[in-house]
Amino acid sequence: MAERLHVVLARAGVASRRKAENLIREGRVTVNGEVILKLGAQVVWGEDAIRVDNRLIRRLDPRVTIVVNKPKQVLTTSHDPRGRPTTAELIRRIKTRLFSVGRLDYHTEGLLIFTSDGELAHRLQHPGYGIPKTYRTKVKGLPAEKTLAHLRSGVILDGKPTATAQVKKIGTTGRNVWLEITIREGRYRQVRRMCAVVGHPVMKLKRIQYGPILLGDLKPGTYRHLTPQEMEKLRKCVTKKTGS
Ligand code: URA
Repeated sequence: MAERLHVVLARAGVASRRKAENLIREGRVTVNGEVILKLGAQVVWGEDAIRVDNRLIRRLDPRVTIVVNKPKQVLTTSHDPRGRPTTAELIRRIKTRLFSVGRLDYHTEGLLIFTSDGELAHRLQHPGYGIPKTYRTKVKGLPAEKTLAHLRSGVILDGKPTATAQVKKIGTTGRNVWLEITIREGRYRQVRRMCAVVGHPVMKLKRIQYGPILLGDLKPGTYRHLTPQEMEKLRKCVTKKTGS
């Protein structure tokens, strides 16, 4: 099936669609040896030899999208010079090049999506789509109702307020509280920093949902492939921007 060149480049993870268009405009893309400057050019993936800066773009492997349950003390990266465990080791059986949809920090566990579709990975992280991400967290101390309201309405991080969040108290252990927090942004260590700002540092943090995808009872350190129904829901989330 013929498809537009910039779409194919984006899906192969070369660049976002917009950046792929720029590569074409700049004359850096060839198809079967010929420089292509036309943005609407059609190619057949697997038949046409597509090169960017003379580098052949690998034939796209079958599309793969998986959800991993990242354990604590695992880095979201392909290699760690200090030899700590990485997510790449968890998914090494999959030979396709996979992009992670954002990151979870070293001490955070839970749901992390990986996909071979570079464009999908890029969109799922884009703040414009405002995809909700839900975390379960154990925080230090017993936050008052007005503290939870503060978290919901937004706290200042790096001089800028966070967008409104959903915050539910789901349990108490005497000295600590379990919260379920849903945010639509993906700022650096956002949940940890939000809770720290209101005086209740995070003791445990686990992501349980990303858009329509649920972690469920997936065991830590394992992964599963998304179902066609989940894929359809995931793609629907990134068809229309919400405006931020
Ligand atoms: N918020 C955090 O603080 N850490 C994560 O890993 C994800 C969200």
